[in-house]
Amino acid sequence: MSSLHEESLLRSRGDEGSPRKGLRILCIEDNEGDFVLVREHLRDAGFEVAPEVARAASLKEAITLLRDEGKRGSGFDVILLDLSLPDSHGPETLDHVNQAAKDVPVIILSGNEDRDLAVNMVHRGAQDYLPKHFLSGDLLLRSILYALERQRSRLEMSALNGRLTQTTHDLKTAQMQLIQAEKLDSLGRLAAGVAHEVKNPLATLQMGVDYFSRHVEDIGDSGQMMVEHMQEAITNADRIIRGMVDYSRSDSLKLELRNINVIVRKALRMVRHEVIRNNVKVDRHLATPIPAVRVDEGKVEQVLINLMVNAIQAMGSAGRGNGERPLHIETFWGQLEAIDRDLGLRDYDRLRVQDHAVVVEIRDQGPGIPEDKLTRVFEPFFTTKPTGEGTGLGMSVAKNIIDLHRGHIQISNVENPRGLRVRIFLKAYELTDRMKRLTPSSALPSSET
Ligand SMILES: Nc1ncnc2c1ncn2[C@@H]1O[C@H](COP(=O)(O)OP(=O)(O)O)[C@@H](O)[C@H]1O
Ligand SMILES: [Mg+2]
Repeated sequence: MSSLHEESLLRSRGDEGSPRKGLRILCIEDNEGDFVLVREHLRDAGFEVAPEVARAASLKEAITLLRDEGKRGSGFDVILLDLSLPDSHGPETLDHVNQAAKDVPVIILSGNEDRDLAVNMVHRGAQDYLPKHFLSGDLLLRSILYALERQRSRLEMSALNGRLTQTTHDLKTAQMQLIQAEKLDSLGRLAAGVAHEVKNPLATLQMGVDYFSRHVEDIGDSGQMMVEHMQEAITNADRIIRGMVDYSRSDSLKLELRNINVIVRKALRMVRHEVIRNNVKVDRHLATPIPAVRVDEGKVEQVLINLMVNAIQAMGSAGRGNGERPLHIETFWGQLEAIDRDLGLRDYDRLRVQDHAVVVEIRDQGPGIPEDKLTRVFEPFFTTKPTGEGTGLGMSVAKNIIDLHRGHIQISNVENPRGLRVRIFLKAYELTDRMKRLTPSSALPSSET
C-alpha cells in the first residue's frame, strides 16, 4: 500500500467529498474520438476544480506512464480504462493496469453493455463499469467520487488491518514472555524446595563418609575406594544443590561501586585451573579508564565464572588436540543504542537506550549454540552436557543475577572466527568529564538477537 498515494488522495479531496484541488485522471483509450468525448464530459461534470486529464493510447504507454508517475511519487487519482486496446484485450487489460498502479481506483469504460462482463470486472477489482454510450458528466462525476471514497475506505481498512496484525503479534509475544517468566518463576521455587529437602540427607551421608574415612584401617582398600567414590558423589550433588539455591535465591544484593576490570581479573584467577586443563589461551582486553558499575561483586564474579567456564568447556570439547584456542575477554563502554526486548515484563529502572553502559564480552571459538536453543539456555536445568558434567544452571543463574542488577545479558553466535559471544550490559556510574570526552562517537553496538 502506498501511503504517498493515500496522502495525495486526501490532499485532493474536500471534506464533503468534492475535490478542492484538481484530480489527476488517466484515460487509457485508443480511440481519439472517445477520448475527446470523455474529456468533454469531465469538463462538464461540475468538479469544483477542473481535473487534469492525461491520455495513454495503448497498454504499453499506460504502464510506462504509471511507472514514471509512481517513481516521481505524484501518481494519478483515478484511471478510466477502455478494455480493448491495440496491445491488450478483455479482462487481462484490467489485471495489467491494476498491477502497475495497485492503489489507484479503475473505472472501466466499455463499448458494450455486457452485464456478466461488468460483474466480472468488479470482481477483478474495478471500481465501476460504465457503458460508453450512457456516459454523461454527471454519471462520471458520481462514479469517480464513489470510487475515490471506496478506495479511501479500502486503504484505511488495509492500514487498520496492518495495525491489527501487528497488535496480535505483539500480544502473542507478550503472552509467550509471560508464560516463560511464569515457568522460570515456578521452577525457581521448585528448585529452592528440592534443594532444601535434599540438603539434610546429604549432610547425613557426608557424616557417614567422614566417619569411614577416619576408620580406613577397618574397611580395607576396596572400602576406602568406595568411600572416595561416595565423597565424589556427595561433592557433585552438593554442587548441584548449591546451584539450585543460587538460582532460586532472590535475596537482596549488596550493591557497591566497583571497577568491573577488577572483578574480571578475579574471575579469571578462579578459572585458571580450567584454562590450563583445557589448553586455552586467555586473550584479555580491558578498557581503561572505565566507568564504575554498581554491583554485588561476589554475584557478578559468579556470573563471569559461569560464562567463562562455559566458554572454556565449549572450546575444550570442540578443540581438543587443535592446539590453543583463545578465550576472548573484553570490557568496553559507551552509550547504548538499542536493546532487544527482554524476556518478562519491562522494568522502569532497567538499563535503557541512551544510558551509558559498561559491557563485558566473553567470546569463545567453540561450536556456538543452535539458533533454536538460544533462548532455552536460560532455562534452569537446560544442559547439553553429560550428567555429572553440567547442571544446566550456569546460564540461568547468570541471567537471574544480571536481571537483579537491572542489566542485560545477550548471547549470539558469531562468525569469523565461529563461536559464541556473550555480552553483559551494566549501567555505568561516575563518568568523569574526561571519560565523557572519551566516549566513542559511535554508540555501543546495538544488541541484536
Ligand atoms: N560458550 C558456549 N558455547 C556453546 N554452548 C554453550 C555455551 N555456553 C552455554 N552453552 C550451552 O548452554 C547450555 C546451558 O549452559 P549452563 O546453563 O551453563 O549449564 P551447563 O554448563 O551446566 O550445561 C550448555 O549445556 C550448552 O549447551
Ligand atoms: Mg555452565
